[in-house]
Amino acid sequence: MFDFKTSSEAPKPQIYTDLLDAIKAVTHGESDSIANMANVAALLWQFLPDLNWAGFYRMVDGELVLGPFAGKPACIRIALDKGVCGAAARTGEAQLVDDVHAFPGHIACDGDTQSELVVPVIQNGSVTHVIDLDSPSKARFDKDDLHGIAAIASYLADYI
Ligand code: SME
Repeated sequence: MFDFKTSSEAPKPQIYTDLLDAIKAVTHGESDSIANMANVAALLWQFLPDLNWAGFYRMVDGELVLGPFAGKPACIRIALDKGVCGAAARTGEAQLVDDVHAFPGHIACDGDTQSELVVPVIQNGSVTHVIDLDSPSKARFDKDDLHGIAAIASYLADYI
């Protein structure tokens, strides 16, 4: 059993240090990609306040397909020329969007979403997954979130 203590009052860098430690603990010695993504989605949901969706899309045959997540049911397939997730997968660059309604082509899977952070996972030089975080608050994500999720994406490249 895993029982991680969290505090949404802690400074963000501390939250991300604790979150990465928890991710290392649940993935250590485990090679099953789905199990690892499922546990990481649960940890993102547990550690990060003010989210309405947290999870993964996987690159499958040139499009993004829904992976393990926490939150409401979501769009299953996303073309690479669509949405915030498509932009991250297509460019290999993280997308930090303060106001999704101002992002051309944003896909409204959950009408509550106001801001979004999408970070690609890169394996052998190619984007294989994206980590997607949605918030019901505008401008919920900043560079601390970007750096924290980028570190998680980098670590996970060997585990998913
Ligand atoms: N809003 C995303 C789609 C995925 S959901 O938010 C889970 C986008 O525009 O790519």
